Amino acid sequence: MTFTAEQMRFWSPEVRELEPYVPGEQPKIQNLLKLNTNENPYPPSPKVVEAVQAVLTEQADALRLYPDPDATALKQAIAKQQHVDVAQVFVGNGSDEVLAHIFKAFFIQKQPILYPDITYSFYPVYSQFFATQTKQIPLNEKFEIDVSDYEQENGGIIITNPNAPTSISLGLDEIEQVLKANPDRVVVIDEAYVDFGAESAVQLVNRYENLVVCQTTSKSRSLAGLRVGFAIAQAHLIAALEAVKNSFNSYPIDRFAIAAAVASFEDQAYFEAQCAKVIESREKLVTDLTILGFDVLPSKANFIFATHPQHDAAQLVQQLREQGIIVRYFNKPRINQFLRITIGTDEQNQRLVDTLKTQIL
Ligand SMILES: Cc1ncc(COP(=O)(O)O)c(C=O)c1O
Repeated sequence: MTFTAEQMRFWSPEVRELEPYVPGEQPKIQNLLKLNTNENPYPPSPKVVEAVQAVLTEQADALRLYPDPDATALKQAIAKQQHVDVAQVFVGNGSDEVLAHIFKAFFIQKQPILYPDITYSFYPVYSQFFATQTKQIPLNEKFEIDVSDYEQENGGIIITNPNAPTSISLGLDEIEQVLKANPDRVVVIDEAYVDFGAESAVQLVNRYENLVVCQTTSKSRSLAGLRVGFAIAQAHLIAALEAVKNSFNSYPIDRFAIAAAVASFEDQAYFEAQCAKVIESREKLVTDLTILGFDVLPSKANFIFATHPQHDAAQLVQQLREQGIIVRYFNKPRINQFLRITIGTDEQNQRLVDTLKTQIL
């Protein structure tokens, strides 16, 4: 929808300038295979479903009451699973909201915050929204982060690990190098995909007073529809996030989300089994796509980033779409010949491989 300049005169000057984030599409096509937004192909734990039902049957009357503004039960469940104190946990409405509060709480506007040139495309959006200067640091020619590039003046640092959309991960020794080089700045590690094989920096939190680790229930816990993300850091940093949150929305997590996410964190066996399945399917898909001539970057995520030397990526995306398979494509410098493909079930991945083999390549 477009609006006239006369209608837009009511918009604040800042909002007129905004370039909002464009999420991956959620189309309603029959027999669609949706491999475009890195959702988990498996349902959440059956205990999550029971917990949501229990809210309706046992606490229906409580829905007229606000939820716990601190979501204490959820923070306790996360603290237990992550082996930290409750005071080291912050929760928000998806990690996107947690990241927004992180930008507000920690990043110094007058010095550029640093992040890779190819990374989660919400960071430039938040930078504009919070009027933060930025400096994008190019990935090397193998699409890797070179941590020595993060030893320069900055107003804060944010790194996705494993990075998105490249899927490549950093080791903890490299993250420690960034933390040590920036003792007076907050370093944020966005671990949206860490549970699919990378090392979590949560184990560094008690040693580094400048580290914030952000995670989500959307990917490895199959709860993208619930909207629960969280951050782990030392208590003095969590307090800043609470101050921002309580200046914006006191009740970001509703009663259903609290109950369901608690049940998810309590069912560690289910979580580990689902992550292991996705990892196994990823390795098989990488092998199958390599046989078809794709170059696939080394992935520690629930998606892969692949390019085919003989086929134009935009065209492949279009051809797959015509066959009811949707993958993500970024029409941006350096990565416009890549497809980002979410790992599905083995059956779904097989459909992708068969379609490519018999209909497209
Ligand atoms: C790197 C990264 N961080 C954060 C998010 C946000 O996740 P959510 O808001 O669902 O927790 C995403 C979602 O795709 C992501 O790719």
